[in-house]
Amino acid sequence: MAQLIGGLGTSHIPAIGNAIHKGLQNEPYWKPFFDGFPPIRQWLSEKQPDVVVMFYNDHGLNFFLDKMPTFAVGAAAEYNNADEGWGIPTLPPFKGEVDLSWHLINTLIEQEFDVTTCQEMLVDHACTLPLKLFWPGGDCPVTVVPVCINTVQFPLPSARRCYALGKAVGQAIQSWDSDKKVAVIASGGLSHQLDGERAGFINKAFDLQFIESLTTNPEWATQFSVHELVEKTGTQGVELLMWLAMRGALATASAGVRRVHSNYHIPISNTATAVMALETV
Ligand code: DHB
Ligand code: FE
Repeated sequence: MAQLIGGLGTSHIPAIGNAIHKGLQNEPYWKPFFDGFPPIRQWLSEKQPDVVVMFYNDHGLNFFLDKMPTFAVGAAAEYNNADEGWGIPTLPPFKGEVDLSWHLINTLIEQEFDVTTCQEMLVDHACTLPLKLFWPGGDCPVTVVPVCINTVQFPLPSARRCYALGKAVGQAIQSWDSDKKVAVIASGGLSHQLDGERAGFINKAFDLQFIESLTTNPEWATQFSVHELVEKTGTQGVELLMWLAMRGALATASAGVRRVHSNYHIPISNTATAVMALETV
């Protein structure tokens, strides 16, 4: 059976794509953010995952307000990036893992998560940037199963539901008939608000407690309703739901996790950024 080796999380701000494109990683503004990655890349080069399941939120590229699935799973052989209006370069397509996609879809539906199945799926910065950040070299060495969670149009799924989705994904990965090594990724957060009266809102105290909880008390954030999370983390801070799904997946693979590395830096653009790697033990 496939092996679930650990989980990764990172923020996914479009400006990061520009910084990579322009080679600004060592500029004073960017360095404290990019400095979070080398220890995690080192861990990845030791562990060598073959496949990643990526929890991310589409921002209006593949799904728009007229059709908004709560949960959607990619089942494509290849995923294309497209111009999404942030002025960032469009990245080359990356490869899917169709067999795991269908195993995930079958398992999730069986467990009463009524996911939308996408045999074609454009992916935005939330899906492409984590791959560029964790594997900055030329070709992406992992295949990908994107799992999209709606954090864009209300009603959003609850924190508890996203954690449960993650658990079901974790069980599916470990029952996949394959000898491949799989990692789960969370893309998004932490606290940020891009619009309205509270634009620029950041909540460092909450973010740090959330990061800590992922190692020591993973269900801590599931006590909060989505509205409470918006209050505490901002309208886009609810992207932390991806991190809960990622952590839910790991909860099915081991009793605890080891924090390989984490980094927290404020701000990049309007966002409190975090990066983290957790290993199943
Ligand atoms: C920003 C953050 C996001 O999560 C996003 O999807 C787009 C922009 C920002 O801070 O600029
Ligand atoms: Fe976002």
